[in-house]
Amino acid sequence: MAIHVTDERIFILETKNTHYVLGVDKSERNRHLYWGPKCHISDYSAQVWDGNDRDDQLGTAKQEYAVFGGIMHKEYDLKVKFSDACREIDLKFDSADVGENTLTLKFSDKVYPLSIALKYQISDVDDIITRWAEVTNTGSDKIEVERIYSAELTLPSEKPYYVKNTNGSWGGEYEETETLVKGGNLVFDNKSGTSGQCMSPYFIAHQGADENVGDVYFASLAYGGNFKVNCFRDSHYTTRVLLGVSDHDFKWFLRAGETFVTPKVFCGYTYGFGEMSRQMHRFTLRELLPKQFADKPLPVLYNSWEATGFGVNVEQQKALAARAAEVGVELFVMDDGWFGNRHSERAGLGDWYVNSEKFPNGIDELIECVNGYGMDFGLWFEPEMVNPDSDLFREHPDWAYHYDTRTSHEQRCQLVLNLTIPEVAEYVFNSVDKMLENHNIKYVKWDYNRSISEMGAQNLECPQEAWYRHAQAYYAIADRLKAKHPDVAFESCSSGGGRSDHGALSHFDQVWTSDNTDAVDRMMMQKWFTYLRPAKVMRAWVTDTNYYNKPMPLDFKFNIAMQGSLGLGGNLSHYSQEDLDICKRNIAFYKEIRNIIQFGDLYRTLNPDDDEMLLNTYVTSDKKEAISFLATAGTRFMKRAVPIRFEGLDDNTVYEFEFEGMKYQKSGLYLKNVGIPAVVYKMGYNKIIRFKAI
Ligand code: GLA
Repeated sequence: MAIHVTDERIFILETKNTHYVLGVDKSERNRHLYWGPKCHISDYSAQVWDGNDRDDQLGTAKQEYAVFGGIMHKEYDLKVKFSDACREIDLKFDSADVGENTLTLKFSDKVYPLSIALKYQISDVDDIITRWAEVTNTGSDKIEVERIYSAELTLPSEKPYYVKNTNGSWGGEYEETETLVKGGNLVFDNKSGTSGQCMSPYFIAHQGADENVGDVYFASLAYGGNFKVNCFRDSHYTTRVLLGVSDHDFKWFLRAGETFVTPKVFCGYTYGFGEMSRQMHRFTLRELLPKQFADKPLPVLYNSWEATGFGVNVEQQKALAARAAEVGVELFVMDDGWFGNRHSERAGLGDWYVNSEKFPNGIDELIECVNGYGMDFGLWFEPEMVNPDSDLFREHPDWAYHYDTRTSHEQRCQLVLNLTIPEVAEYVFNSVDKMLENHNIKYVKWDYNRSISEMGAQNLECPQEAWYRHAQAYYAIADRLKAKHPDVAFESCSSGGGRSDHGALSHFDQVWTSDNTDAVDRMMMQKWFTYLRPAKVMRAWVTDTNYYNKPMPLDFKFNIAMQGSLGLGGNLSHYSQEDLDICKRNIAFYKEIRNIIQFGDLYRTLNPDDDEMLLNTYVTSDKKEAISFLATAGTRFMKRAVPIRFEGLDDNTVYEFEFEGMKYQKSGLYLKNVGIPAVVYKMGYNKIIRFKAI
């Protein structure tokens, strides 16, 4: 793909299917011109800006990055306070640096020592554009940054857009919302220290699109701390979306010579939500996930949390490991409860040494047993936390965020460690490192189970930097551990899916999707999860959970969990031989097909909310193999011959497959247009169809 430059200082980022056009106007301001399907390059011209580059027209100008200053009272991306208390920025254009796939536009303040670099990166294979900003203090006096977003995006249509985001909660992550933004500001944010389960650091905008048709604009912020996404449509019908680190309780001292590099935003235009997902899935696998495991299939894991809770002990874990090995599990994970004085949520966090009552001969007894069965061993940590009832807190009560004058409110009986103190960050690194150094551990579940309050951070000259610094510190510790232990896979967890954003996906190999493992609820959750995140990173377990919805058969649960990275979480010690055989059969099958799921292209054809049933097809990139999952929690009205049509297959390839006792050989074209009939009734109906090209 290419970056074109015209002599009018217009820059056209040409991706596979789109143009993103920006430039610099005569008043030296950064301007946005267009984003969407390709047009004729010769049509793009600066004349559209000539009439409105007056100083008093700034409020309506389409900009790439609006700074606070002048007659401009709409939302902006950057606001600072200079040492003389001037709080306005006035930029001039300095230079453009055009690489093969990169563009940097540099601006600086006309008076003050502040420079801004707007960064763009395109790829050769898709329509995802990476954007961020770098703001530098080129002088000697400190500059106080009050807001610094990553990017501003302008959508082309004069008509209002529907904007998708989430309104989730613990156990109800990713629940989709859709709001028509006709006017006013629609803000999605989080103020609790993580990206959280509620709103999401992304937007998906459309005007009536569905999986296969319609213009879709989207962007996701690679940041798991407090974020803000602000969508608004002005009275001149321009819709803009600003994304970045939240300015809530935020301030940053930019000292002499320092640069603030914002988190990245990955944005794109596609036709249909399905194409959006497939592009973002491939992009995440290719560009973002840590390299060690990005191209390797993730193992089938067993996690004993739902079976044993905090009450772990060596014999009971060994018994579970025996069962896990019997059914074909490859990675056995012991969750919470193995360390310190951890018998409940009330104590132990911070004391990352093995509990000697539960493991009298040390943890290696269990690890060796697990390894003896041919499985890897994994362990749970919540490294950023401390219980007041812990040795760590008794020794270092001031290591938790606090104000001397305020009550430190506990959540799940715990406080958050102040990772902005280097000594504390070092302790956290060492706690996990020590376990990885001394034991054969191949997987870490990194949990985070409370929001931050009383964020004193009096150690910092500017305590409001703490929110951002905490997020950076946690990434830095995880990166350091991964670099030192490249054969250990890391999973990001935060009371379920509270840290499953593209920031986490830039540092962790997978995420815990939700503590809600109910297969019926997961049907929709997984749909929403996969809008922007690949199925590979979506840990999905088969568990004993039945209480949110109707009890579902084990095969049904496997059908749903197999659509991500499969895990098991039930109490295998209570499983009958028949249940174990079902697990064994399904796990063996998953191992055969997991490359199609974890690396294939996903086509979401039917979903239970709209269609009563689910039909998802995963297709290999060469389209030689595919796998479809059909499932419904229950149907009404005796559906006897539902036509099932499949997407994503190659029109001119003939596939063979079996379905409901029939053997078929049909082309992708036939399967797309005519399909096959399915007898769909009963509770817990579920089928898997495996297509092979002949
Ligand atoms: C969180 C996680 C769970 C489990 C518990 C352990 O809630 O989301 O999966 O690890 O912590 O305390």
